[in-house]
Amino acid sequence: MNRTIELVKTIYEIKQLEDVDEPQIALAGRSNVGKSSLVNRLAGRKKLAKISSKPGKTRSLNYYRVNPDGYYIVDLPGYGYAKCSKTEREKWAKLIEAYIRDNRQLKAVAVLLDSRLTPQKIDMELTSYLAKLGIPIIPILTKSDKPKQRERAKLQNQWKDILQQDKLPLCFSSKTGMGESKLWDIFTDYAID
Ligand code: GTP
Ligand code: MG
Repeated sequence: MNRTIELVKTIYEIKQLEDVDEPQIALAGRSNVGKSSLVNRLAGRKKLAKISSKPGKTRSLNYYRVNPDGYYIVDLPGYGYAKCSKTEREKWAKLIEAYIRDNRQLKAVAVLLDSRLTPQKIDMELTSYLAKLGIPIIPILTKSDKPKQRERAKLQNQWKDILQQDKLPLCFSSKTGMGESKLWDIFTDYAID
């Protein structure tokens, strides 16, 4: 299918949040894990979402419309950025919470996990929060071009156990395109019923 992705809305503060009628899939994960790069990969455009080698690049909620399907991929600011002030971190948590809570059109949250790191507490805090709210989690191991296959497989199994899911997390690489077509299938399944 010939899909296109366009940025339609950017939100910086809770007071700008409003209900969106279309189904949404949010991208969450630590700063620098590769959320914006994933958007660019799916869009087939290098500079649609701004990316950076330094963490803390995305500071807003960015709504990307997937055409012609009509659902949104929402790129969230990253968390866990050590240099970020406490006020800044609390602002993140409040904004994300406000977005996630009571959002009936939020079909799933893609939780992006760095394929080179053992499961991190901060990521598990997010996944248990989502589980508690009953929001489906799509686990994605980013930068999967980096680790060896054996290490990726080990991490996949660890996350499968932690999340108590039937399937292994998806190995994805924005650099090579690994996992891209599977990811489209997963997004479509959640977003379009
Ligand atoms: P924040 O906006 O700070 O939350 O970060 P982000 O999660 O949006 O990360 P971003 O997409 O900006 O990528 C961070 C860095 O990781 C950049 O230097 C990217 O080039 C690199 N990167 C992202 N995806 C991949 C990948 O699949 N493979 C490799 N090797 N590098 C990647
Ligand atoms: Mg980003």
